[in-house]
Amino acid sequence: MANQEYKRYTITSALPYANGPKHIGHLAGAYIPADVYVRHLRLQDKDVVFVCGSDEHGTAIPNQALKENTTPQAIIDKYHQLIKECFDKLGMSFDIYHRTSEQIHHQTSQEIFLTLYNKGLLNEETSEQYYDDEANVFLADRYIIGTCPKCGHPSAYGDQCEKCGTSLSPSELINPKSTLTGKVPVLKSTRHWYLPLENYEPWLREWILKSHEADWKSNVYGQCKSWIDAGLQSRAMTRDLDWGIKVPLPGAEGKVLYVWFDAPIGYISATRALFDEVSSGKLHYATPQRDFSQHKKDDWKKYWQDKETKLVHFIGKDNIVFHCIIFPIMLHATGEYIVPDNVPANEFMNLEGDKMSTSRGWSIEMHEYLHDFPDKPDVLRYALLTNLPEAKDSEFTWKDFQAKNNNELVAIFGNFVNRALVLTQKFFDNKVPVRSALQDIDKKVVSDLAEFPARISASIESYRFREATAHMMDLARMGNKYLAETEPWKVAKTDMDRVGTILNLALQIAANLSVMVEPFLPFSAAKLKAMLNFNGVRWNETGSADLLPERLELGHASLLFEKIEDDVIEAQIKKLHDTKTKMELEKQPVTPAKAEISFDEFSKMDIRIGKILKAERVEKSKKLLKLQVDTGIDVRTVMSGIAEHFAPEDIIGKQVTILVNLAPRKIMGVESQGMILMASDKDGTLRMLNPSADTSPGSVIS
Ligand code: 2FM
Ligand code: ZN
Repeated sequence: MANQEYKRYTITSALPYANGPKHIGHLAGAYIPADVYVRHLRLQDKDVVFVCGSDEHGTAIPNQALKENTTPQAIIDKYHQLIKECFDKLGMSFDIYHRTSEQIHHQTSQEIFLTLYNKGLLNEETSEQYYDDEANVFLADRYIIGTCPKCGHPSAYGDQCEKCGTSLSPSELINPKSTLTGKVPVLKSTRHWYLPLENYEPWLREWILKSHEADWKSNVYGQCKSWIDAGLQSRAMTRDLDWGIKVPLPGAEGKVLYVWFDAPIGYISATRALFDEVSSGKLHYATPQRDFSQHKKDDWKKYWQDKETKLVHFIGKDNIVFHCIIFPIMLHATGEYIVPDNVPANEFMNLEGDKMSTSRGWSIEMHEYLHDFPDKPDVLRYALLTNLPEAKDSEFTWKDFQAKNNNELVAIFGNFVNRALVLTQKFFDNKVPVRSALQDIDKKVVSDLAEFPARISASIESYRFREATAHMMDLARMGNKYLAETEPWKVAKTDMDRVGTILNLALQIAANLSVMVEPFLPFSAAKLKAMLNFNGVRWNETGSADLLPERLELGHASLLFEKIEDDVIEAQIKKLHDTKTKMELEKQPVTPAKAEISFDEFSKMDIRIGKILKAERVEKSKKLLKLQVDTGIDVRTVMSGIAEHFAPEDIIGKQVTILVNLAPRKIMGVESQGMILMASDKDGTLRMLNPSADTSPGSVIS
């Protein structure tokens, strides 16, 4: 299986939930590696389809709708569009970016469900499940929290305790509570259709444990092995929910397919939609990246049902069980579909020393990056590729991002290309110079160049994308070193023929780079091709020192990469910390409401607009400022505990809100005649309450 020659390829990237923006950790996990893999295949003219799309079902969608006070449909429309646009701008070259809310997906999912049902492979069972009778919904495991029976952690989820890692079922939680309403859920009986995973254990042992020990990544293989060894259990493939794909059976009203049943089928329906669209010529979701004109509507079947197709799922590690155990069992059980040849799941990418998380505000969202660095999609691709969490969790830092850009893309790749082009412009009228006899150093560079394509291919084909990226940069490094050692700018004083030979070879290396970097840095590859006036060649023609004909007129040279300055990086780090603090504050509860008062009680308070005329620090007090305030009635002294929040010089002349009929009090020996009112934020920050426009001192607040 591992070394089988395949006729065609079906490559999938995990369908992101359309319930929020996605961050660069997602990109590093399931998208960029897949894109590199596919672009490399396409450069070899392999028959490949690359599918992805939005996962639009599951409880996460209606719950996000509740949070944003809108409908589930509005949520999926909004985030499908946002995520799709980001992927486009980052060069993700899907042949189709589909949606699981589309009719063809509902149909495909129901067909597969019915195939399994009609074969008698789904068991109908009634069980007791937690129900929130205030929200009137059965609760998905994630929406029940309680105390972990193993470690005592008070907010363990119904499926897992994140503190001790134990996998749980909701009934094991002590003091369970619904996260939707905070209420204690009740048990209610409900009927569902189960896939008995345990029946497939012998097949899984044969297929994964025996056949794929050598070629699957050890993190993936290890997880599968421990799942299988722990004993598989039946899993419900349906849910009680009103958002999702209807269970296509009589008497199953109010029930939908489990989101992890339908989501991976999304890969199949996306492929179906692709062939529907290319065969009819009506492109809607499809963005075919190669010529599909010879294909017919039904050809999707070849990509899912023909054993000569290599199916590879690119995912993050949290999706391993679904892509290696549950979905393959579903596919295998139909008796019609192929199963994946590999599932090269990545671990997680952390950020500046902490777990990446959108909800905690500790992340770099794709759209935020693109907003701040609109012309640098390749810099992000490079920074992620060189730091992929392939074997273990990795860490993104802004300083590393800057270093990768400045020290590698600019100083090695960009510098090499720029020197070769600028010298050609200067000495050879911007035309590829003629090559004369080669010296040893030239011969060495020519023979080394020839080895790069196979070396890069071997790494990509074994899913070692970090290594492949390093080889790619080594090629630029080789070019840079060649120029540094041959010094054509010095030789130009004595031997122009020699300079021609050196620059010819340097330009040949640049032309090779323009093809070989395409899987990694597609935007820079296109830019470089334009600078070289070169259309490119197929992958198997690279490694040659004869890609550019002598005397070819080159295009216009410009910088491929630009230095990123320290202040830009510092601003990003600050933004990260500010967002986290803001999110933490938002999550903190507000101070509870005080007891009710009557209108008469309220109207006893005389609150006015005042103006600060003078402000000074109070000796021996860190907290107090002594203020002179024009209240409109008089000018009076107020001792205010705001010295840690405001500098005296900053508040002189400011309008404030002042309670003027508070009984005078002596503070540090001074009589204070009133109180300045302030808003105290959740983190204790004080803010003045000013009128929205200049207002006369003494104006009454009521
Ligand atoms: O984890 C996730 O984001 C899921 N939406 C991935 C689904 S992958 C596939 F099954 F569609
Ligand atoms: Zn625990």
